Amino acid sequence: MAESGIEDGAYVITIDGPSGSGKGTISRLLANELGWRFLDSGALYRLVGLAAMSHAIAFDDERGLATLAAHLDVEFVSDDSGSGTKIFLEGEEVTTTIRSEACGNNASKVAAIQAVRDALYERQRAFLVAPGLIADGRDMGTVIFPDARLKIFLTASLEERASRRYKQLKQKGLDANLSALLEELAERDERDMNRSSAPLVAADDAVSIDTSNMSIDEVVAKVSDLWQRISV
Ligand code: C5P
Repeated sequence: MAESGIEDGAYVITIDGPSGSGKGTISRLLANELGWRFLDSGALYRLVGLAAMSHAIAFDDERGLATLAAHLDVEFVSDDSGSGTKIFLEGEEVTTTIRSEACGNNASKVAAIQAVRDALYERQRAFLVAPGLIADGRDMGTVIFPDARLKIFLTASLEERASRRYKQLKQKGLDANLSALLEELAERDERDMNRSSAPLVAADDAVSIDTSNMSIDEVVAKVSDLWQRISV
């Protein structure tokens, strides 16, 4: 780690925040704009949750879940057609499956276990390649890339996040119910913010952006501008 905020020869911008704050969409767009790699760390926790279900490993079996996380057979395949990244678990495509709220909830249960987080640490660090990485998650700026050159913490009101998630799920052809989503997101926020292992919290040196009344393009432009200012 050099003093300029460049890690292993590559820059990192971390984008943390609660579910529905726009992290995923904004991170993907920024990665495209800069020609950098993208780490969707939430997908890894969703995959551990899904694999636990299919291997009948209980959510309180910490050792079993940590072993599963350490040996997770997962592949992220970039799609040249521009329609995003395809995700495979044990050879089976699960790109859409892992986006359900049930998978999100299971993800937040396995994510509260420190041994699972430890098992995924190196896998996340390995995403870092030159020229840079956009890292999306909950602890990117606090734990995984604490020396990132730019750290962003995105927020939005619970109502706005639930409504965004509702539209996203509908677009993907998945089941969605707005009042159930409000409850589930509140429950997930509570678990993510109050867990003892890497709780969801803004890094001291993060720039917080409330996206409640901003369009996606406005947020991307704002982060892009922040990056241009510090990278010259
Ligand atoms: O971002 P996403 O909604 O896909 O994340 C699913 C869950 O995974 C979150 O609710 C959180 O509990 C967990 N997570 C985490 N640390 C990360 C990314 C996600 O604990 N870096």
